[in-house]
Amino acid sequence: MNALAWIETKRDGGVLSDADWRAFVRAVVEGTVPDYQISALLMAVYFRGLSEAETAALTLAMRDSGRTFTWPGDSRPVVDKHSTGGVGDKVSLPLAPLLAALGFRVPMISGRSLGITGGTLDKLESIPGCRTRLPPEAFQAQVQEVGCAIVGQTEDLVPADRKLYALRDATGTVPSVPLITSSILSKKLAEGIEALVLDVKCGRAAFMRDLDSAGALAHSMLRLATACGVRTTALVTAMDHPIGRAAGNWLEVKDTHEFLVACAESRPGSDRTAGWNDLERLVVECAAHLLRLTGRAGGMDEAREQVRACLYSPEPLRVWRRMLATQGADLDAFERALGRDTLAPCVREVHAVEDGWVTDCDARIVGEIVRDLGGGRRKAEDSVDARVGVDRLVKVGEKVHRGDLLARVHGPDAERTRAAAARLEKAFRIGTSRLHPAGPILWEVGVTVSR
Ligand code: URA
Repeated sequence: MNALAWIETKRDGGVLSDADWRAFVRAVVEGTVPDYQISALLMAVYFRGLSEAETAALTLAMRDSGRTFTWPGDSRPVVDKHSTGGVGDKVSLPLAPLLAALGFRVPMISGRSLGITGGTLDKLESIPGCRTRLPPEAFQAQVQEVGCAIVGQTEDLVPADRKLYALRDATGTVPSVPLITSSILSKKLAEGIEALVLDVKCGRAAFMRDLDSAGALAHSMLRLATACGVRTTALVTAMDHPIGRAAGNWLEVKDTHEFLVACAESRPGSDRTAGWNDLERLVVECAAHLLRLTGRAGGMDEAREQVRACLYSPEPLRVWRRMLATQGADLDAFERALGRDTLAPCVREVHAVEDGWVTDCDARIVGEIVRDLGGGRRKAEDSVDARVGVDRLVKVGEKVHRGDLLARVHGPDAERTRAAAARLEKAFRIGTSRLHPAGPILWEVGVTVSR
């Protein structure tokens, strides 16, 4: 079949064979099909969808378009977690070292920020000297030795996705369940993992705004990953309020570091970690699911207990430092930066104008502010300013008095920082009665153990 026939078949609601999808992906990578025909096919898929078999065929062809990893036999299971992206979503940063401390190997291949959602690579690169482009051999050696590495996609890892994602971004075809499924899972399957937790974000600051669409994406990824032999759980989690106490690249690294230090120095449930209840819950749930999926805990209660015992010990903080140092970070410069109040030229505070309880902090507004200060990207080729963002965010459910700090804005100059602070005021709602936040886990989509 040629490209025109593929397009016509999908345009008319037909089904392409495994061989067609393999030929299509080969043509994409070899550059033998023009961008306008790839885009037309993507648009046809956007409107017509793909059958489960087609989604699987496309995903596997994409996975095989580049290098795939295999891991030496070892008692430590190879696992990962993937989030569809949010505001203040720094879960991967403490989770990777925690999982290594729990005895897993974590070859985490992460993405960059786009739009209002942050990217783990941009966050890590805000640490002096820290590299996210490692040669594959160095990546594998680090995972074997340290237990975890967080790196970016290289030219030879799922090259089909690089090309297809860029065209989807330019043609309005990103929000398609089968295309997101194939894009995310092709990269996760190339990592050679045996268990995976998917964190599908849902809410006003997520790709998927409602439970129906988040659930459809979660089901699609769960079914396919499981069919490919990866033990998988999908969680649908709330993305209405920023996660943790900061949003913005450097500020999220600092937030993560402070969280790990607070955990190392306290006990579960202590006041020291109260501002990170949402982050703690997400980290614990993801790690506990991986313990259960790999048979290292009998049930979720036992798994959570194991995870908390490890999280509230010095070990994850030690692995975090070791991971960063192995990726080239200058730990002395990192400590000096952590000791500074800000790396940005200007800081401005936002205060409560009345007494009451915080009932809302709109993550979409916070994400837009960070992006517009230069902390995020409008287009994939934009650069980011790692210094800017928002920190010391009060959490929904906290009591405040008139004049109390609600958050701070870190900006590139006085004018933009002042304007951002005025916008940030509108993200908060203060009410007269206490609202108990429901917790971030909305839906455990599938507790499926394959094999
Ligand atoms: N993240 C990806 O890697 N791919 C998508 O299609 C969407 C989010």
